[in-house]
Amino acid sequence: MTTDTVQYDPLAEPTAHRVAMLNRDDRLFHIILAQQFDCELIETMCRLAEMIRNIAESKQGNRFLRSLLSHKRAMLYFIQPSTRTFLSFAASCQILGVPYNEVRNPSTSSEIKGETEEDTVHVLSQYFDLIIMRHPVEGFAERMAYKLNSMPRPIPILNGGSGKDQHPTQAMLDMYTLLRNFEPRLADRAHPTLSGNPFAGKTIAFVGDLKRGRTVRSLSYLLAQYAGMRLIFVSPPELGMGEDIIEYLDRHGVHHEKSEDLNEVIRSCDAVYMTRLQDEYDQAGESSKIDYYKYSLTVEMVEATKDSLVIMHPLPRRQELDVRLDTDRRAKYWAQVRNGMWMRAAMIAYIFNVDATIIDHYKTSYTA
Ligand code: NCD
Repeated sequence: MTTDTVQYDPLAEPTAHRVAMLNRDDRLFHIILAQQFDCELIETMCRLAEMIRNIAESKQGNRFLRSLLSHKRAMLYFIQPSTRTFLSFAASCQILGVPYNEVRNPSTSSEIKGETEEDTVHVLSQYFDLIIMRHPVEGFAERMAYKLNSMPRPIPILNGGSGKDQHPTQAMLDMYTLLRNFEPRLADRAHPTLSGNPFAGKTIAFVGDLKRGRTVRSLSYLLAQYAGMRLIFVSPPELGMGEDIIEYLDRHGVHHEKSEDLNEVIRSCDAVYMTRLQDEYDQAGESSKIDYYKYSLTVEMVEATKDSLVIMHPLPRRQELDVRLDTDRRAKYWAQVRNGMWMRAAMIAYIFNVDATIIDHYKTSYTA
C-alpha cells in the first residue's frame, strides 16, 4: 500500500494570503504580484517616482539620492533575455547608490556543476540585500520569496518578469505613464498631485498577444483597482486574454469587451497598449499560422483618433507598431522607458524604507 503525501503548494493559497506572505508590517517586502498594489500604493509610488525624478535633476540632489542606500547591495539575477528591464534596474540602483552585480547566464554559474537554482538563490541571499529576478518559469520568483522568508537571512525579491505570468514593475511604470498623461498635476513640481479617479470614463485598448504577454496581465490587475473605465482587448482569437484575468476583472466590476478590429475601436480610445507576439512560448511554431500584423498600429490609423491618445508599448517591438509613429506627439513608449527608471528607483527606495526620507527632503527643498 502506498501513502500519498500531498505537497503543500503556497501558490495554491488564495491571493490575499499570498499577498500577506509577501508583505511585512503592512508594507511590501517582496514585490512579486501586481495584486500587491491598491490605488493608494500605486499613487504613493507614482508621487515618489516623480519626486526622485525632480531631485535627480541637480548634482546636489543626485548626491542626496546616492547616499540613501549605499550600504545595500543588489543582485540582478536575469535568467531570461532582457535589455531595457535589466538596464532600467541597473540605472535605478545607480540613482540610489546601490552597488549591484549580475548573473545573466546560468551556464557560467555553479548550476553547471549540478547546483539547483534554489541553492543558487540561497547563496545569493548571503551576499546581497535584494535580488531582482527575471525568470522564464512562472511562480519561481514567488516560490523563492516564500523559501527565503524562512531562511536565516531573508532578503526581498523583486520580480522583473516571471514567465508568461507577471511583470509588476513594468505594470507600475505603465500606470505611472498613464497617470502622467491623464492627470497632468502629477508632474507639478511643487506638489506632485493625484486626486480623484483619473481613469473614470477612459477607454484603454490592449492589443496583440494578450494570452502570453505578462505586461498586459499585470497591468490589468492594477487598472482593476480603478472604477469607471472601459477595457478593450484586441487580439487574434487564439491569443485572447486569459480566463483568470477576465474573472478578476469581472469580480472587480471592470467593463471589458473584445474586438478583432483595431481600426474600428481606436477612435474611442484614450490609450492604446500594443504588444509583440510572444512566440518564444510556442510549443511547435503554432503562432506562425496567425496573421498577427493584422493587429498593427499605423500612422494612417491614428489620424482620426483623439488628439490626446496615449500610444504605449513595453518594447521590444516588431512590426506591430509603425516606426513612423515614433516622432508623433502621442507616442509615449520612449517616455515609458524613462518613466521605468524612476518608478523602479521608487520601488527600491520603498522596499528599503527610505521613502519617508525622500518625501521629507522633497518638502524642504522643492515646496514653496
Ligand atoms: C516585456 C517583457 O519582457 O515581458 N519587455 C519589457 O520588459 N520591457 C515585453 C516583451 O518582451 O514583449
